Amino acid sequence: MAFDQTWEQIFKSQSWGKYPSEDVVRFIASRSKSVPDCGKIRVLDVGCGGGAHTWFLAREGFDTFGIDGSESAIRQALALLDRDGLKANLTVGDFTQLDYPAEFFDVIIDSSAVQHNSFSNIRLIHQQIWNLLKPGGYFFGILINTQTSGWEDAEKLEENTYTNFKTGPIQKELLVHFFTESEVCEIMSGYEAFNLEKTTRTVSNGRDQYGHFVVNGRKPL
Ligand SMILES: C[S@@+](CC[C@H](N)C(=O)[O-])C[C@H]1O[C@@H](n2cnc3c(N)ncnc32)[C@H](O)[C@@H]1O
Repeated sequence: MAFDQTWEQIFKSQSWGKYPSEDVVRFIASRSKSVPDCGKIRVLDVGCGGGAHTWFLAREGFDTFGIDGSESAIRQALALLDRDGLKANLTVGDFTQLDYPAEFFDVIIDSSAVQHNSFSNIRLIHQQIWNLLKPGGYFFGILINTQTSGWEDAEKLEENTYTNFKTGPIQKELLVHFFTESEVCEIMSGYEAFNLEKTTRTVSNGRDQYGHFVVNGRKPL
């Protein structure tokens, strides 16, 4: 069991992530240009949280699935879908144990969710993501990186994994694994057409820095 119940406390007391990120929208827009019927494309939103991307995917007409460990997050996601008369298959569950048939999904997205796990669990999750993707299917991820401030004075749990943040943009009690480029290359090593971008921006009026890798790749046929 890797799911951190801190998330349930967060989602119980606030709504999180109502709007989809530009990076996800760009990726989906670029991939769906050539798709004649989105309804035939099965997409999984791993760690869907309050459902911003699940909502976007369902609205675009994809056969949409989402999983999150927080019941309150899934409730928020369902409310967002309901508001606009949209449907998705949502599950409350720990995504270190993804219970879907092998080669079930055409696309799997991770928008800043898998990073909230230890690196050994991240490896485990990525083995499963690989198994769940159809040959020719795509993985897309937004992964926080070591350019983000706050880890310097946080509590170190393992290499690049921290909790108990005192400064920086991360909520104090969360567990975060900050990816290095070589770790991203390791988890993406089987994919072809691998694309890796980096974004770094300041937050809190320039006081803190947020860095991410934005990656995608295709499982070979
Ligand atoms: C930063 S939020 C991102 C939510 C959403 N993807 C978004 O972009 O708005 C991280 C999410 O991952 C979920 N999560 C983290 N580790 C998990 C695990 N092992 N199993 C299930 N959910 C997990 C949390 O509950 C939370 O909803």
